[in-house]
Amino acid sequence: MANNERARKKDSARLVWDSKPRRAPNPRDIEFQTAEVVIPNWVRDSGQIPMSFRDGMFGEQAPDKQQMNRLVWGDNLLAMQALLAQGYEGKINLIYIDPPFWSQEQYNFQTAIQVASLGELSREPTFVERLAYKDTWAGGIDSYLDMLYPRLQLMKRLLADNASIYVHLDWHAAHYVKTVMDEIFGSENFVNEIVWCYTGPRKTPRAFSRKHDTIFFYSKTDNYKFNQLTIPHKSGLHDTGQVETFGRLRKEEVSQEQIEEIRKLEERGKILEDWWTDIWATERYRNELLGFDTQKPEPLLDRIIRASSGEGDLVADFFCGSGTTLAVAENLGRRWIGCDLSKVAIQVTRTRLVQQDAKPFLIENIGNYQREMIYLSGGRIGEMQQVILKLYGATPRRDSADLGTRHCPKDGVLELVYVGYPDRPVTARKAEELARQAEKLDGTGYKRLVILAWDYDYNYSSELENRLRAAKQPIKTKIESRTIPPDIYDYLKKAKDEDDLEPLRGKIKFYEKPYLRLTKPQVKPATRGKAEVTIGIERYVVFDLPVAEKEREKLQALIKDNFAALIDYWAVDWDYDGYTFKSQWQDMRGNGRKTKVVVIQATANLATGKTYTIAVRLVDIFGNDAAGTVEVKP
Ligand SMILES: C[S@@+](CC[C@H](N)C(=O)[O-])C[C@H]1O[C@@H](n2cnc3c(N)ncnc32)[C@H](O)[C@@H]1O
Repeated sequence: MANNERARKKDSARLVWDSKPRRAPNPRDIEFQTAEVVIPNWVRDSGQIPMSFRDGMFGEQAPDKQQMNRLVWGDNLLAMQALLAQGYEGKINLIYIDPPFWSQEQYNFQTAIQVASLGELSREPTFVERLAYKDTWAGGIDSYLDMLYPRLQLMKRLLADNASIYVHLDWHAAHYVKTVMDEIFGSENFVNEIVWCYTGPRKTPRAFSRKHDTIFFYSKTDNYKFNQLTIPHKSGLHDTGQVETFGRLRKEEVSQEQIEEIRKLEERGKILEDWWTDIWATERYRNELLGFDTQKPEPLLDRIIRASSGEGDLVADFFCGSGTTLAVAENLGRRWIGCDLSKVAIQVTRTRLVQQDAKPFLIENIGNYQREMIYLSGGRIGEMQQVILKLYGATPRRDSADLGTRHCPKDGVLELVYVGYPDRPVTARKAEELARQAEKLDGTGYKRLVILAWDYDYNYSSELENRLRAAKQPIKTKIESRTIPPDIYDYLKKAKDEDDLEPLRGKIKFYEKPYLRLTKPQVKPATRGKAEVTIGIERYVVFDLPVAEKEREKLQALIKDNFAALIDYWAVDWDYDGYTFKSQWQDMRGNGRKTKVVVIQATANLATGKTYTIAVRLVDIFGNDAAGTVEVKP
């Protein structure tokens, strides 16, 4: 056998599974859309933020997005492909990921609602549970590896030459992933298998209680950054005012020099080993708990980030969950990128970072995300609209892909159902047009029009209200505006043909769009060219409460006099440019133990002499969004 052949054969063991992707994914030219520029501390940071973020049309003040911290909502495959296309190849100094563990479980986020002013009810909170994410894999380990493998390939490309990656797993899939990591990163770049041991109750009557996680640490090359860390070290020198013992030696046997030497050793600490027992399970860090299942403790990330990055370095977590990595990176003066598929995760992370007074950061969507996701699930827009109509229980019409009809199971009314387009918010004008069409369609017309939209325009509810009120001829058709939920992609993937669709009908909830009304701005007389402007939320109504029947009545009673209890977070852009929402003022109910009911008024001092469009964005505890604008000339 020739020498080179022998060399090729060496280390050729690989993990193989049937659906293993043959080609690595490529960078893709996908834009990020800035959904929000979050400025938690406006007084401190306003000077540093370019005020126009109009995507694709940056002016002279063009923000360098690469210099800003970024929180991306969407599938990390697309996010990483987009980052690579935008020049991030070799730019990230440290990646930590804590992906789903292949646990076959679903994880939730829990919110407790308690309204102090309602006597009886205040003592017993109502819990609202939302699905945070699913770690269920119908296709077994193959489908799990199909997910992780291409993503690890992209991560490798994003890492700088002196960078490292930490992949956090447990007994479920760590052994498979180690083999895949060896293949992608090279076994020669394996640095450590860190075993994080914790303790806590759990019943496993037929096994030892599983109480450790495994974190694989790989470098990109041999020349990687590593800061040796130490932990406090007790030598056995017990000092209770006088030295008692040192190991087996009694105090009389220990010389003063030896004691000094031991003290120095203690001060220096112990070099950290690859098994960590001094970081507890997350539940024990009560002040950190945010209600997000699978949250990791900050001390764990603090250790990893300190060991493998320096100040100003770029740290990324593409499965960021409740944002632990980002929060710690922010505290340690690192730059960061976070990504998560789950809306709950983005909501929790944003609140967490605002509460910790983070530097300004971007919340971004993947441009045309719905289109991309539909493409990833293998469909076309027209087909997708038909599937959505069917999932809603409607029969698609032959004459138009976006319309269908349905007999409402509750009251038997024959409804006309419209499905919106993924990259266009439905406007009040469109709704009015559709209602006019519905009034006459098919001779008899329809009593009800149901709109199923991915997104609605700012002020949709109030503008529609105004339009209907102002209409010369009143529209007889009632309009019901509903939202297509983000978990639709799971259903689109499953619903490939009629037979697949049938069992899914009725499983997916299209909740009615909540109603938001803002107060008229109040302006106090100006002093030194600035006037105090106050705006507020006058009404917020959630028509469909996504809670169990028995909880619903209690919740309705709770919120009747206090709609603020439903608001998770709301923010104000005092000078909205019509393109990018700059969150300059925020209030939030908070995460975990630190919760309160939000205030419903916000005040700012605005320079006189110009007309401002004040924009408000709100997200409620169920994840519904609402937005509105008002104009004022102080
Ligand atoms: C174990 S949790 C991360 C928890 C996190 N380390 C923390 O401290 O809160 C895994 C996260 O990965 C997210 N996720 C799963 N698949 C994803 C994907 N393809 N793209 C982006 N995020 C994903 C889930 O939504 C979930 O929030």
